[in-house]
Amino acid sequence: MLLTMLPAKRILLIISGGIAAYKALDLIRRLRERGADVTPVLTRAAEEFVTPLSVSALAGAKVYRDLFDLTDEAEMGHIELSRSADLIVVAPASADLMAKMAGGICNDLASTLLLATDTPVMVAPSMNVRMWEHPATQRNLATLAKDGITFVGPDEGSMACGEYGPGRMAEPLAIVAAMEAHFAGGPLAGKHIVITSGPTHEPIDPVRYIANRSSGAQGAAIAEAVAALGARVTFVTGPARADRPHGVDIIEVETATQMLAAVQGSMPADAAVFAAAVADWRVDGAADQKMKKEKGGLPTLSFAENPDILATVSQGEGRPELVVGFAAETENVIAHATAKRERKGCDWILANDVSPGTGIMGGTENDVTLISADGAEDWPRMGKSQVAERLARRIAEALG
Ligand code: C5P
Repeated sequence: MLLTMLPAKRILLIISGGIAAYKALDLIRRLRERGADVTPVLTRAAEEFVTPLSVSALAGAKVYRDLFDLTDEAEMGHIELSRSADLIVVAPASADLMAKMAGGICNDLASTLLLATDTPVMVAPSMNVRMWEHPATQRNLATLAKDGITFVGPDEGSMACGEYGPGRMAEPLAIVAAMEAHFAGGPLAGKHIVITSGPTHEPIDPVRYIANRSSGAQGAAIAEAVAALGARVTFVTGPARADRPHGVDIIEVETATQMLAAVQGSMPADAAVFAAAVADWRVDGAADQKMKKEKGGLPTLSFAENPDILATVSQGEGRPELVVGFAAETENVIAHATAKRERKGCDWILANDVSPGTGIMGGTENDVTLISADGAEDWPRMGKSQVAERLARRIAEALG
């Protein structure tokens, strides 16, 4: 079966040096299956990981490698090469190439094409976790995002170097999905939205934890709805029952502390939606070993306050343009939610009544009121996916 999601789209694929370059071969295959024309460019370092011959064979096209190649310049100059694509994709993007892009340095073909172009650029970073977390890389990331470059990934996981953390290149199909969303041209194309979802689990000891009944259904529905409008989505989820959303970058966490770190590590973002039911407290000094049932004695747990992720992000530096929180209340819903919006410093609060009679917590429907600086707007009771779609459209209007 021929997939035709990217028919005749001209993709300039820049492959830089890193172990993830092997995934670029699969990406080329996936793009061609979807009808895209792929023009590959290899950096010198990339040639240490994949051969020009395999890249050229898979792309069914010439590979460009050298800035000063006279034949290439005669056939198609580098300026023309940089502008003749519908989209430039850098996958994998090394820390070095990102630094060059952020600094406007152009000392090889790849960096020169990226500086000379007026075509949209999508970047799939890939590097060791320490390199990714280094303030220099994070600065470069913020600069490039401000310049309008879109990012896909990196994913979190184990790395070829034996370490674990964010830095793995996004999977080829996730890159393809981001490209399709880009060309679909939805109202949120080019926007990055971070969403928290699900409960958190706060350990008591290695086998016991404190949790809540959040299913994660509303957060997952919001992630799919904004992705469908073209947004790039980072979905930070606690251990939730609901199925994970498709076409988004997923970060799985357990505790509130981990959720805050994952959210902060995912910035910058244009909008953030905090749909997670974060535990307010964690057990102070959770036991390293399973607590034993002592004869005649009951354990005493002491608690520490968890970070308020919504308030931290709303009041922090580099705050997203739009921050949305939820308020699950059981009485005086509007008054409590309005006060919460002020206290936390977010832009909107979606307030809902979760008293047992409503069937909302864990159910398929929701009954919300949108609280903003303009007042309270009551939405009719509807399915959680309709709430998500309506919210996604409102977010697109606000960011438009
Ligand atoms: O204070 P309360 O828990 O009612 O606030 C709910 C809102 O704040 C939700 O959007 C929730 O995701 C967010 N929140 C958070 N971090 C916390 C507690 C709540 O992000 N520690």
